Amino acid sequence: MPIPPLPPKTSLQGLSFLITGSNAGLGYSTALLALQLGASPVYITARNASKGAKAVESLLADPVVKKKNPNAKVEIYDLDMARWESVLGFADKFIKDRQAKGEGLDIAILNAGIANITYEQAPTGNEMIVQVNHLSTALLSLLLLPLLEKSTTPKHTARLTIISSGMHTQRWGKLTECPPDNVNYLQQLNDKALFDGLERYGVSKMLIIFFVRQLAGRISPDKVIINNVCPGAIKTSINDRMPLWSWPLVWWIMRNGGTPEDGARAYIYGVAVAGKESQGQWSQCSQPKQYGDFVLSKEGQKMQEKEWKETMQVLEKVRPGISTPVS
Ligand SMILES: NC(=O)c1ccc[n+]([C@@H]2O[C@H](COP(=O)([O-])OP(=O)(O)OC[C@H]3O[C@@H](n4cnc5c(N)ncnc54)[C@H](OP(=O)(O)O)[C@@H]3O)[C@@H](O)[C@H]2O)c1
Repeated sequence: MPIPPLPPKTSLQGLSFLITGSNAGLGYSTALLALQLGASPVYITARNASKGAKAVESLLADPVVKKKNPNAKVEIYDLDMARWESVLGFADKFIKDRQAKGEGLDIAILNAGIANITYEQAPTGNEMIVQVNHLSTALLSLLLLPLLEKSTTPKHTARLTIISSGMHTQRWGKLTECPPDNVNYLQQLNDKALFDGLERYGVSKMLIIFFVRQLAGRISPDKVIINNVCPGAIKTSINDRMPLWSWPLVWWIMRNGGTPEDGARAYIYGVAVAGKESQGQWSQCSQPKQYGDFVLSKEGQKMQEKEWKETMQVLEKVRPGISTPVS
């Protein structure tokens, strides 16, 4: 689906940004577009210091940024969403740094994500895709929320935008009803014997959508606007780790895919064009969309509440008290 241009007057003048997973792909292109539209400071994250340093250098060397935003500041933070210590360490340091400098955070885009189709266990013990795309993203959202809330001013409402995917609409023949109360679904996803590589990415994105909907229902959009965005199929290196046998499928999904620069517009749409009406909603390719059938079904609603509880149980063990402000 083509991603339309942003409204001509779109400006991010003086707004601070955090974009996770921004040394490459959509995160990098979004950091670049934000800078070109006047944002500063822009905080990017990488899990590899040299890739991060190269990204900062290249963002600041961009001719449009040099011309239109010559005093722009870009800073790099280390963040590996596969490890709890890294997520906690990053958030604690990031917030401490903002406090020390008397700064807030206007816009957070939680973009870091993966799309493996083979089973991998994260150092946390959880299955890797669920760890990165759902659990660590949910934890980071809750850790950043107080800073975002404090950053809202009469002129600008702070933003938390999470990158989801249209793949959540695919049920892959499996998720048609909410698992019974005696089944811990999140726990079950760690079982290698039950892993299905073709469905897991979509499931991880559905879990984070459930989280966004639950969280957004607890926070007034006057305090923080919380939504999620899918850029559609975009040619990045996200599929590089896919096994050879899956390449025809990847090719088919990506055959009409856009560029990361196209995708960046869909991200900026989510944080600067979509307004308070987007609380808890998603957009795809800069268009407000209806969630997949399962999310909107009665069973989906039941599952959304179940997954909120299961997610909070996991996160409470990582940072006791984290769920209190949103319970
Ligand atoms: N491309 C698409 O068609 C598409 C469509 C819909 C949604 N999305 C979503 O868009 C987001 C960005 O994807 P992309 O296509 O830009 O992929 P990408 O080019 O692979 O970039 C992913 C970024 O996330 C980082 N990352 C990966 N694992 C991480 C971890 N454990 N901790 C911290 N950072 C990590 C990567 O860092 P490294 O460079 O170190 O790997 C990279 O900076 C993802 O959430 C993806 O699900 C993509």
